[in-house]
Amino acid sequence: MRVNCTVNGEPRQADGVWEGESLLYVLRERLGLPGAKNACEQGECGSCTVYLDGVAVCACLVAAGQAEGRDVRTVEAIGKEDALDRVQRAFLDAGAVQCGFCTPGLVVAVHDLLTRQPEPSDPDIREALAGNLCRCTGYEAIIAAVRLAASR
Ligand code: FES
Ligand code: FES
Repeated sequence: MRVNCTVNGEPRQADGVWEGESLLYVLRERLGLPGAKNACEQGECGSCTVYLDGVAVCACLVAAGQAEGRDVRTVEAIGKEDALDRVQRAFLDAGAVQCGFCTPGLVVAVHDLLTRQPEPSDPDIREALAGNLCRCTGYEAIIAAVRLAASR
């Protein structure tokens, strides 16, 4: 089947999509957007977090067909290499990136949190990021990064 949607502000089309394919697969393998990572494919790790119509979702749990006609925003649209978003800058400044595999999903999740809640408490931060797993950092640096981004 063919899927049409808006991705990062541009109309995009994917052909030959199988009914069981995920939005994550379409983004990574058909549209050349590898920012959202594929780790568990079961909605457990948050590494594939993207916005769908402005709501942060796990792209691995969204069937590609569900994205038809909708607005998708990926980490590629949050900041630019020479003009990082405050969340990305804070992750670097706080040393919240080690292997980096979890980072794109966390950046989207934190961006979403700070959009909804500009001054989150530590419990708010922990709750908002409960679905994003990181195997490297122990989370303290990530929470520090969120505080830093919020303060900016
Ligand atoms: S790859 Fe989607 S939640 Fe893990
Ligand atoms: S930095 Fe390696 S999984 Fe989070």
